[in-house]
Amino acid sequence: MSHLQSQDPEVAKAIAAERGRQGSFLELIASENFVSDAVLEAQGSVLTNKYAEGLPGKRYYGGCEFVDVAENLARDRVKQLFGADHANVQPHSGASANLGAYFAASEPGDVLLGMSLAHGGHLTHGHAVSVSGKLWKAYQYGVRAEDGRIDYDEVERLAKEHRPRMLVAGASAYPRQIDFPRFAAIAKEVGAMLMVDMAHIAGLVAAGLHPSPVPYADFVMSTTHKTLRGPRGGIILCRAEHAERLDKSIFPGMQGGPLMHVIAAKAVCFGEALTPGFKAYQQRVVDNARVLGETLVANGYDLVSGGTDNHLLLVDLRKRGMTGKVAEEALHKAEMTVNKNAVPNDPQKPWVTSGIRIGTPALTTRGMGTDEMKLIGGWMARVLDKPGDEAVAKEVRSQVLELTAGYPLFSWEPVRRGAPARAS
Ligand SMILES: Cc1ncc(COP(=O)(O)O)c(C=O)c1O
Repeated sequence: MSHLQSQDPEVAKAIAAERGRQGSFLELIASENFVSDAVLEAQGSVLTNKYAEGLPGKRYYGGCEFVDVAENLARDRVKQLFGADHANVQPHSGASANLGAYFAASEPGDVLLGMSLAHGGHLTHGHAVSVSGKLWKAYQYGVRAEDGRIDYDEVERLAKEHRPRMLVAGASAYPRQIDFPRFAAIAKEVGAMLMVDMAHIAGLVAAGLHPSPVPYADFVMSTTHKTLRGPRGGIILCRAEHAERLDKSIFPGMQGGPLMHVIAAKAVCFGEALTPGFKAYQQRVVDNARVLGETLVANGYDLVSGGTDNHLLLVDLRKRGMTGKVAEEALHKAEMTVNKNAVPNDPQKPWVTSGIRIGTPALTTRGMGTDEMKLIGGWMARVLDKPGDEAVAKEVRSQVLELTAGYPLFSWEPVRRGAPARAS
């Protein structure tokens, strides 16, 4: 029995149940992934006990000599990974990274131009309910109705009209490549700082499968837990000239003690991302998303923009007369996890929506390939064709369970008996 089980069986039970869910369900949420045993070990380490306000070599606490090693490793590796002048690895999350970068680049009250949440952007890119939309004067751009692609002409028009201090590029639900040189040209034309939030595509950028924003942007923010496959957290990269302002805006500006156990896990994640195997993994993520999308289209489902260049798909359910909420719930019954998501110009409310967002990073980490994506796309279509049909949900669920049993979550776990052989 573990320490946790004997001391606190209620919490232990919840963790064990979640562990079981992660193992048996097909995890198709585009922003989720499964970390390696090494990342998990670093994150669950004694570094959680340590206060280390400040930066390596310049701390406000004694006894930081070993956590300094971990933070220096994280900083050096992430700079190497993305070719950046400077990195701050202390933001607790993606939202904190974005705010930290905004405070470094501007003053509250300045104008921010970002992508609208309703068109695939993120809350922290200037939405009215977020502090980014409350403290900054935010304007929003979106995608074209005809093809679901970012309307760069609209971005330019809005930038010339509102003269933003910060032009924010990056998205949470955009399946296509982002044109960073075009954003940089627009920012330059109006004298704005270019802020790129690459949270979703960071793993692809690290692997060279999406053009990098680093040469074009003043600040590049990211989470570390999505395609990058690290612990839950944030990072900010910037040009040397902004380094001091950035570091001060995180501490003492926004945060207190950094999460040193998470920073150690970030270092492990960046080390993994520097290996050739990581590039091969990201290529499989992209291949899997393409094949899953093709399978859904072949089964009569519409994708926003018609397909994908990256790790995610946005399914537009309007023609099927179904909401994202109904689709998410129907797929959950068959043990497939997706999230409902607004499609551009969505007539439904945000907690209902007309779409679902699907991603392949997590299943690819488990070892699944394009053959499995064809199977899964077919199962999704079967369930969504008859969303209220319990018999279909039950039949698909048993196929899902058989498949997931063949792909253990951890390298040391046995493949369960009766499971199909791994395809790759
Ligand atoms: C593009 C983008 N930026 C920032 C965030 C916020 O990250 P976190 O949830 O770690 O605060 C997200 C999360 O979904 C995101 O998709």
